[in-house]
Amino acid sequence: MVVKSLNVKGFPYPIVVHGSCYGMRSRRNKEVGHRLEDSNLKQQEYWNKLWTTQNWASRDSLGEMIDYVKFRHLLNILPMKGSSIEIGCGSARVSSWLALKGYETFAMDYSKQALITAKNSYFQLSLSGDFVCADAFKLPFKNETFNIVLSTGLLEHFSDPFPIVREMTRILKVRGLFYADIVPKKFSTFRLLRRLGEKVLNVGLNSDEMFENRLNQKQIEKLLTANGLSNVHVYGMGVIVPSLKSIQLLRSPNLGKETLKKRCYWNYVKWLDKTKLGSLLGWYFFCYGWK
Ligand SMILES: C[S@@+](CC[C@H](N)C(=O)[O-])C[C@H]1O[C@@H](n2cnc3c(N)ncnc32)[C@H](O)[C@@H]1O
Repeated sequence: MVVKSLNVKGFPYPIVVHGSCYGMRSRRNKEVGHRLEDSNLKQQEYWNKLWTTQNWASRDSLGEMIDYVKFRHLLNILPMKGSSIEIGCGSARVSSWLALKGYETFAMDYSKQALITAKNSYFQLSLSGDFVCADAFKLPFKNETFNIVLSTGLLEHFSDPFPIVREMTRILKVRGLFYADIVPKKFSTFRLLRRLGEKVLNVGLNSDEMFENRLNQKQIEKLLTANGLSNVHVYGMGVIVPSLKSIQLLRSPNLGKETLKKRCYWNYVKWLDKTKLGSLLGWYFFCYGWK
């Protein structure tokens, strides 16, 4: 149900607001369970604040490299064309990349600030797309709407992400692609590096403030298959060599594209992607399956 449109100064398209969001606590949301309970409200406040204060347009360059490699892997599994939706889009890095590739994209988040950041990303790249404010626990779309349903860095923030995955698969078309990258709380060379960066160079993303679950590879596989997805794959990815060079990269955000590519190959131990060691040392799990 569309409630109202938000006009954001300087942006050509309105953000469409679905249901209750921004911490409004309607009776309906109380009835449907835990989703806007106090802890969730606190989370929402946290994200709103984060998207207000962070300059996510210029990410740390290690983050850019992780995206670069992720996109290369994604290219191998994406359908040729179709519509996509990113749940908990934040700055919508993946969606704007998909829009650049010609997909019809929806970017969805319950943080108004996130959607402003997302729109900004699209605006700067002269892209068009749809922006939806809604709760991931109750997606305002009909069954089987999208060819691609994805989330990045969302599912680790819930002790039980099952209901969100259920919603994501519900709105996925039959034979559509489900993709999620999940960054659970676990050892990884990237986290180690960030800790070192914080200690040695006083840089970092303070990412540990937000709750993160400890899902492992097997549990994620179960989460996806229990939601009716088939041909499920869960790979450990993002092993960064904790060298002084890579610590320095944490604070050199403006690498040129070509340099980025080159450094990517050097600093990323790509051959560890999808291996057992990759699962042990990698920063995130690259997870996908088909409906
Ligand atoms: C760690 S950020 C990830 C953002 C983006 N995908 C990325 O990788 O940069 C998690 C995002 O999920 C959003 N989010 C968290 N819980 C949500 C919920 N219940 N419904 C909708 N969005 C949610 C937050 O507002 C935040 O923007």
